[in-house]
Amino acid sequence: MLANLMAWIDKRLPVTDAWNKHLAQYPAPKNFNFWYIFGSLAILVLVNQLLTGIWLTMDYNPSGEGAFASIEYIMRDVDYGWLLRYMHSTGASAFFVVIYMHMFRGLMYGSYQKPRELLWLFGMLIFLALMAEAFMGYLLPWGNMSYWGAQVIISLFGAIPVIGDDLTLWIRGDYVISGATLNRFFALHVAAIPLVLVILVFFHILALHEVGSNNPEGTDIKKPKGSIPEEEQSKFKFHKNYTDKYDIVDAIPFHPYYSVKDIMYVVAFIFIFCWVMFFHPDGGGYFMEAPNFEPANGLKTPPHIAPVWYFGPFYTILRIIPSKGIGAIGMFAAIIVLFLLPWFDRGVVKSLKSRSKLHTFNLIQFAISFIVLGVLGTKAPSPMNNMIGIIAAFGYFGFFVALWFYSKNEKTKPVPERVSG
Ligand code: HEM
Repeated sequence: MLANLMAWIDKRLPVTDAWNKHLAQYPAPKNFNFWYIFGSLAILVLVNQLLTGIWLTMDYNPSGEGAFASIEYIMRDVDYGWLLRYMHSTGASAFFVVIYMHMFRGLMYGSYQKPRELLWLFGMLIFLALMAEAFMGYLLPWGNMSYWGAQVIISLFGAIPVIGDDLTLWIRGDYVISGATLNRFFALHVAAIPLVLVILVFFHILALHEVGSNNPEGTDIKKPKGSIPEEEQSKFKFHKNYTDKYDIVDAIPFHPYYSVKDIMYVVAFIFIFCWVMFFHPDGGGYFMEAPNFEPANGLKTPPHIAPVWYFGPFYTILRIIPSKGIGAIGMFAAIIVLFLLPWFDRGVVKSLKSRSKLHTFNLIQFAISFIVLGVLGTKAPSPMNNMIGIIAAFGYFGFFVALWFYSKNEKTKPVPERVSG
């Protein structure tokens, strides 16, 4: 009965074929490690955000008069409203933890290099959309930090020559942040950007499956057709789309091998997620900041306006530069350099394991600089913090500049022909 139904559907829509091509019979290198779980976790967190978001929308009131009170209503009166809200707010932070780990994996193993540049670009567009989504979402509780955070960031657009003032007016929909701003941010947060995100993730995975996954050794599991003796090729059944074009070595089908492995990590992740959500839902003041427990008030600026932790690195770069215009350029440049990473890196060897000590050092100093910038973003400015921020910003941008110089003639070890793990 079920088989007949499936056959009927498959004749009209290639469901089984797509399942085999993209999951069951997708050839995945056999040496994936811990760092490879974050793609699946990102999908999990995305689904969590979409579902809890839909349910929150049912009781949320997107108006300047009603927003703050509707959040209190969700927290106190709606059945399990508190749970939905905490799943969503903790989920936002979890999303960025997962994505930063996912991106760092890409840096470690050179997954952005040829032929995965487009995959990386889709990833970066996702990152941009995610930041816009989180920024707009943060205005919705209409707390005082929502208001002033949005005020600071939107006013940055005013620094753009000629069109700046008109642009800020257009974004806000008013001369100040108001109910009109809240209303449009709500539309973008619940409809437009989630749609864009889902489409981008779809293309991200399509691009990945066109070129195939990288792995911790940076070895290619796809060899030219006919170059590998039959007995040395991977013995599993892979989708014909891959085996018609290549000889596949050292690979295993995604399902059941990695589906099971990923589920194990999903369970561990859910444990940690629940611990944070149930015991520290405000993230120690980093997910939900104290001024946001008061309603938005245009006459009362919080003593220290700080973004949520995940914007910290970019916010610090904005703040350490005294001129608002140049600060904004610095902040956007910090994101643009990430887009251009595949072209900053002129090397051909992918994985850290085969690259020079200089590259390892450069990557470690980049990670430390990024974390330092992030921590500073949540702290009040002081001359000392500014000084540390400037050094960390040099570390951040220096990573790309140094990479461009040394990657061309870098001393690398030979990449293993075959995956050894
Ligand atoms: C909603 C956000 C995202 C989702 C759901 C997602 C999903 C995935 C999945 C399922 C994979 C395959 C499994 C894995 O290798 O981990 C993957 C691979 C990859 N992703 Fe993402 N991703 C997201 C965001 C990003 C971002 C922001 C970047 C970087 C800018 C990125 C870059 C990559 C790269 C380079 C790979 C290939 C890694 C390799 O083969 O070594 N992704 N992604």
